[in-house]
Amino acid sequence: MHAIQIASHGGPEVLSVREVPQPAPGADEVLIRTAASSLNPVDWKTRAWEVGPELPATLGWDLAGVVTATNHPGYRPGDQVIAMSAQIATGRGTWAEQVALPARLLAAAPTTVSLVDAASLPLAGVTALQALQQAAVTDGDHVLITGAAGAVGGMAVQLARHTGATVDALVSRPEHLVAARELGAERVWHAPADLPRRTYTAVLDTAGTAAGPALAPGGRYVSIADHPLPDIPGAAKSYVQEDQDHLAHLAALVDRGELRLRIAHRYPFHEVRSAHERFEAGGVLGKILLIF
Ligand SMILES: NC(=O)c1ccc[n+]([C@@H]2O[C@H](COP(=O)([O-])OP(=O)(O)OC[C@H]3O[C@@H](n4cnc5c(N)ncnc54)[C@H](OP(=O)(O)O)[C@@H]3O)[C@@H](O)[C@H]2O)c1
Repeated sequence: MHAIQIASHGGPEVLSVREVPQPAPGADEVLIRTAASSLNPVDWKTRAWEVGPELPATLGWDLAGVVTATNHPGYRPGDQVIAMSAQIATGRGTWAEQVALPARLLAAAPTTVSLVDAASLPLAGVTALQALQQAAVTDGDHVLITGAAGAVGGMAVQLARHTGATVDALVSRPEHLVAARELGAERVWHAPADLPRRTYTAVLDTAGTAAGPALAPGGRYVSIADHPLPDIPGAAKSYVQEDQDHLAHLAALVDRGELRLRIAHRYPFHEVRSAHERFEAGGVLGKILLIF
């Protein structure tokens, strides 16, 4: 079977499609035939930076596919599933035609979207959900979400709206203003200097912007960006954790029509270098999928 691997760190040219042995599911694990995965910033960072497991390594965190063999009573061959695998910590990348994962990482795929498109959900969705939970966003909040046109930001705008909170947004460029409004943001800016000061009861920063002055006194500031936190009491980072229940919750929201998946591009997996180049060029509205 084929997997997308790196044997050294560098530009998109270090990505190669390699013939590798089919994985064997261990105890409580499930073998999945991959339908699709997606690109997340962690994938190009793992490729480019000296981070992640020993090389050669298969990249990829997101997975949507069909169970083909199982060592867990909760799954049967033919089940359509989604998963998030913390590749950088565990080395279990999902960019392969077949993937073996612990059953505790899987949830049933949403049924109202294609299995391929469901690959856009796991990492971005779980990250947004957990960051909003860390920020304790509820219906009384006035929330600012930065990077709102991005993958996590776009999920966060929708999920924050479901809590009943009022949501405003910061995007990177004027042509993304409409997209953030369509996701449910009320007021949308593209220049941090224009943000109202001391206004928001909660800020979720997905873009590493200087949004600190927009936080109301006593507000909660949560960031998922690599950038250092602003000097605000209680400001905290959120780091996504694998969580089956969160995946299942997100899939249910998709099926109820309450969470919209946004797909920008679909690439056959052997065009992974082009997919990375497109991703790193920026300005992408929605997820980039790799089809297996
Ligand atoms: N801590 C965690 O657990 C965790 C989990 C997932 C992701 N992350 C990190 O969170 C970040 C976002 O991830 P993602 O998947 O949402 O990436 P993404 O899809 O690339 O979205 C990032 C968005 O932020 C925008 N942006 C960049 N600079 C901005 C600025 N100064 N002001 C406003 N918007 C700006 C980008 O616009 P352009 O395309 O125009 O640049 C893009 O729309 C990445 O750094 C990622 O590594 C962390």
